[in-house]
Amino acid sequence: MNILVTGGTGYIGSHVVVGLLKSSYNVTIVDSLINSKSSVLENIEKLAGKAPTFYQENLTNFSALEKIFKDNEFDLVIHFAGLKSVSESVEKPIMYYQQNLTGTINLLKCMQEFHVKKIIFSSSATVYGSGNAGECIENMPTGQGITNPYGKTKYMIEEILKDVCTSDPEFSAVALRYFNPVGNHESGLLGEDPNGIPNNLMPYIMKVASGKLEELSIYGNDYDTPDGTCRRDFIHVVDLANGHLAAIKALEAPGFKTYNLGTGTPTSVLEMVETFEKISGKPLPHKFVERRPGDLAEIWANPKKAENELGWKANLTIEDAIRDTLSFLENHQ
Ligand code: UFG
Repeated sequence: MNILVTGGTGYIGSHVVVGLLKSSYNVTIVDSLINSKSSVLENIEKLAGKAPTFYQENLTNFSALEKIFKDNEFDLVIHFAGLKSVSESVEKPIMYYQQNLTGTINLLKCMQEFHVKKIIFSSSATVYGSGNAGECIENMPTGQGITNPYGKTKYMIEEILKDVCTSDPEFSAVALRYFNPVGNHESGLLGEDPNGIPNNLMPYIMKVASGKLEELSIYGNDYDTPDGTCRRDFIHVVDLANGHLAAIKALEAPGFKTYNLGTGTPTSVLEMVETFEKISGKPLPHKFVERRPGDLAEIWANPKKAENELGWKANLTIEDAIRDTLSFLENHQ
């Protein structure tokens, strides 16, 4: 089976590509390398024993994408490519709408033209919006109270996919709603290494642990949670990647489906920091500061639907994620 993976050199995409190649799928990656490095391709090959086909291209370039579809025969698409910084999306909404929405529409137009009718989309827990804090279940309403353009693009793309499924009874789309991905492949060869000052917790912790940033600011310790800091559902990226492989079978039946990919157990920011200190054996300098605007006190997945329908569940722990993060840091000092 030939699979097109957009954004396949990114943090989550690269882990999925390794899983696909190891499961004997043929993989073609289209990635602009805006937010990733071509060296990831060598590491994918090292880990999978096989190389994907690679095109450096942005999905906003319709004619280039059309040519890629013409030159290949894809059976299904896994769509990761997109911009993903919440704060940047607030500053540059047009760039986010253009990249994420135009990119997806171009992809869907090519799929339609070349009769490719199966897609897995990289969605996010952010689609549940601010009205649905706490435990999230797939049948809850989405789209209300999303505070940033990045999150809105995830919601809008889910809606577009729903409409495409309605218009074409043979089309199948699965939106996977990720909670908070952490960790990396245990080899330490793949991982998340953002440029500049990271927004997300784990990348920030990594910069502090490697001495590149002085200390972690924990945003708020006065939330109505057990230790006052926010709680999230941190899921190991290798578990998350396996969720994509499991979702391929859900594409056999046409229609639009969503699945949460999370562990079902929330962990607080402070617990994350303390566990990191325990496993690394070193203190992680941190201080408590004001709350960050837009943060929910707590949000976690109910992952039962994925377990029941896809036979998938998360197996790795926060400790595994931190151990693997430390080996990534060793490889990228
Ligand atoms: N945090 C800190 N200090 C930091 C960074 C984060 O205390 O330097 C805290 C945040 O306040 C939050 C928690 O760590 O309480 C997790 O924050 P992240 O930025 O890592 O993740 P979010 O839960 O805010 O966002 C994640 C994804 C988004 C997605 C969102 C939807 O990064 O892409 O979940 O649930 F939209």
